[in-house]
Amino acid sequence: MAARKIIIDTDPGQDDAVAILLALASPAELDVLGITAVAGNVPLELTARNARMVCELAGKPETLVFAGCDRPLAHDLVTAEHVHGKTGLDGPDLPEPTMPLQDGDAVDFIIDTLRAQPEKTVTLCPLGPLTNIAAALQRAPDIAVRIQEIVLMGGAYFEVGNITPAAEFNIYVDPEAAEIVFKCGAPITVMPLDVTHKALVTTARNETFRTLGTPVGIAVAQMTDFFERFDREKYGSDGAPLHDPCVTAYLLQPDLFSGRFINVEIETRSDLTRGMTVADWWRVTDRAPNAMFMGDVDADGFFALLTERLARL
Ligand code: BDR
Ligand code: CA
Repeated sequence: MAARKIIIDTDPGQDDAVAILLALASPAELDVLGITAVAGNVPLELTARNARMVCELAGKPETLVFAGCDRPLAHDLVTAEHVHGKTGLDGPDLPEPTMPLQDGDAVDFIIDTLRAQPEKTVTLCPLGPLTNIAAALQRAPDIAVRIQEIVLMGGAYFEVGNITPAAEFNIYVDPEAAEIVFKCGAPITVMPLDVTHKALVTTARNETFRTLGTPVGIAVAQMTDFFERFDREKYGSDGAPLHDPCVTAYLLQPDLFSGRFINVEIETRSDLTRGMTVADWWRVTDRAPNAMFMGDVDADGFFALLTERLARL
């Protein structure tokens, strides 16, 4: 079977980096048409830089990387240096990238690619705030029906929030964008905190990455060493959640995940619950389902896949 064509929209972020590495390690299954950077964990200049550092770490400097929106659609940018460090990719000592950032705007790249490829053959993989994807849908509403699937990391139901008591970071940063995406009509699969908080890099799992002994294995171990300190201190959890790699793992092995096809709406107005994903998990409304909202992951299977693929780079 031909590799599935994907665009990774991202704000690296150590967990974004691992998601990108997993995709680039899997060319037989995933054809990464391009990586589009968005402002999120850190400002755009850094996410565009970090995305290229990760491609070079993977030995894939030919990957097309574009910079997109430098701020959310309607509000000021909120960043997460408290989790990811000043650069967004603190931990390993990676060289500055030498591969180019592509000319042109990430949003135009998303639009042009969806128009140029046969209908429903391109999957979008947002790993950060949904600004670039929403801007593309606003600028070119015709692309919505051309999207094969949107598989995104964002939101929460049972785990509620990680940046406010009610909201997950990616949705909170740009709820207006999230609302546009969740209403666009394309098939959507969501990896919320309910799933990603089960994909914890325990000490033993991180040692497995380190003992790969490769530059990639060692860098991944150093990245998770860095950002797990935050989760251990804050939640007392056994290691850091690998949020964003759930997206690329799903594309490779969907049976690792289970969830429900339900209605998900985005709160954009309330000061208290702004960015909340109001997920009708119990199907208590008659609102039409618009997303496959995952709830569980086979964590051992996920880490086995990740380790096996990272070893290929
Ligand atoms: C999400 O927010 C970011 O900090 C991570 O990269 C992930 O995409 C988790 O809430
Ligand atoms: Ca991210």
